[in-house]
Amino acid sequence: MKVEDGSTYPVDDLQHQADLEEAYKHWLEKTLPESIRRIPERKEHFTSLSGIPIKTIYTPLDTKDIPYNQALGLPGEFPYTRGIHPTMYRSKLWTMRMFAGYGTAEETNRRFHYLLRNGQTGLSIAFDLPTLYGYDTDHPLAEGEFGKCGVAVSSRRDMEILLQGLPLDKVSVSMTINGPAAIIWAMFIAAAERFGYHRSQLRGTLQNDILKEYIAQKEFIFPPEPSMRLVTDTIEFGMKEMPQWNTISISGYHIREAGSTAIQELAFTLSDGFTYVEHALARGLKIDDFAPRLSFFFNSHNDLFEEIAKFRSARRIWAYELRDRYGAKDPRSWRLRFHAQTAGCSLTAQQPENNIVRTTLQALAAVLGGAQSIHTNSLDEALTLPSELAAKIALRTQQIIAEESGVTNTVDPLGGSYFLETLTNEIESSAREYIQKIRDMGGMIEAIKVGFPQREIAESAYRYNQELESGERRIVGVNAYQDDDYSWQPPILEIDPRGEQLQRERLKEIRSSRDKKAWQESLDRLRKAAKTGENLMPPLIDAANADATLGEITDVLRDVFGTYSEQVII
Ligand code: 3HC
Repeated sequence: MKVEDGSTYPVDDLQHQADLEEAYKHWLEKTLPESIRRIPERKEHFTSLSGIPIKTIYTPLDTKDIPYNQALGLPGEFPYTRGIHPTMYRSKLWTMRMFAGYGTAEETNRRFHYLLRNGQTGLSIAFDLPTLYGYDTDHPLAEGEFGKCGVAVSSRRDMEILLQGLPLDKVSVSMTINGPAAIIWAMFIAAAERFGYHRSQLRGTLQNDILKEYIAQKEFIFPPEPSMRLVTDTIEFGMKEMPQWNTISISGYHIREAGSTAIQELAFTLSDGFTYVEHALARGLKIDDFAPRLSFFFNSHNDLFEEIAKFRSARRIWAYELRDRYGAKDPRSWRLRFHAQTAGCSLTAQQPENNIVRTTLQALAAVLGGAQSIHTNSLDEALTLPSELAAKIALRTQQIIAEESGVTNTVDPLGGSYFLETLTNEIESSAREYIQKIRDMGGMIEAIKVGFPQREIAESAYRYNQELESGERRIVGVNAYQDDDYSWQPPILEIDPRGEQLQRERLKEIRSSRDKKAWQESLDRLRKAAKTGENLMPPLIDAANADATLGEITDVLRDVFGTYSEQVII
């Protein structure tokens, strides 16, 4: 390396650890204090968004004990820290999969086609609240919620309209549904088969992560035990009948949105994953038959390096745990594949166009962290459902990162960074402490019952809000750089007001025209299967084909399984 006076660094000297230790000591004791005397650092303590202390500088001294092969490895090889494929985005970009859904199946189908025309490469269905809780649109509890946070799906017929004209053997479909996941999946399968697809052709993902509902999102219906039985039924059915379907999207996103730190998000999500693995093993399933189709879903938040380190340590922990604790032999079981959504909770209603910048940085973190699929939030989402323009800008954000930034030219470009590798290790060891604590409590279901993850999240959320209140944590447009004469308002999405009525009429028509005998028999069979413990997917598909509605099917299971309400946790 040439320097000003023409001399060259004796490169081997700089590599010599003793010299570096001396240089670092001199810097710490002389160079740094001199600079700080002239211009102090802006804060006394620098921490990551999750509170991890961050030093002024990281050097080879911080990473000298990291064993490359065991801790990092090469991409596409154990422990996958640097990526799950040898070539990653050089061969295939991540799936650009925009979460979408509102109003009727017709309206959402139009948005799906719009997004595919604009270059998205995966589909992602958002359902409205009544659907998420297993109620038909015309149920009294559905009053006022139709189509608000997603599309209303009460029947197989709705699902057929939703999927109309979509190439289901070419484009994978993600469905964000949990409590009634098995029922909605049954409707999807029934609808796709009526379009002529064979279920083995269908690619996609069912979120189906009921544990994080008890922990964070609260969209549960049944008690934990029958809910876990339902999830295990879907894992077993998918393993046997739908080799290209990811049966769970084990989610950290909602845990983070509820206010957790990155470390809690990682630890609780992986603990949920281990719980699903243990339930499937307890049913006698073979780990390498089902684990390759377990997938993950993480939040990609504001702190760029913390998020990249979180994704990299997630892959490393999962690889070691699946191989060494659960005995998986198939490398496909060891590879943690994940979808990332940029942080909805970071979006501001103030100066909403700033959200484009936040989302860009968060999407960049997901790419530098090796995501397989990404959703980018729209600038208006703190105000309303995304308008077409806002959703297009969000998709273009991914396309610009992919096509113009250069970050896809090599695999894990930040790998080896003294800071990033140190942070990856720190996040891994902190996450492992939480994982062990949960194991010591008897596992995640026991931990949920005593409110452990819920309390940890609530405390983190409270701490974060205190930092905002005190101004220690600054958010542009909110508690810093406010803009009193701000006037711009983004276009607001209008949902067709006739949609709810249309949905109600369709339900009435389905109930009056279906074959009453076949319908009744399908529900009786479902009830019997729910009581006897047989796999519920086949009778659920039969019920969907007999035009039983979501609400009717869910009511049968409510009757057999009972419902769940969370004990108030002090
Ligand atoms: N080399 C070799 N093969 C490669 C490759 C490479 N570089 N890149 C990709 N591939 C292969 C993959 O192996 C795969 O083949 P396979 O299925 O035979 O293994 C194929 O190409 C497709 O790649 P992926 O499976 O990685 O990509 P997908 O997009 O199909 O799947 C996933 C990604 C994470 C595994 C999947 O589970 C997924 O799509 N999840 C999405 C979940 C989602 O969208 N959730 C939204 C929730 S919204 C929400 O909950 C928030 C709300 O509640 C507020």
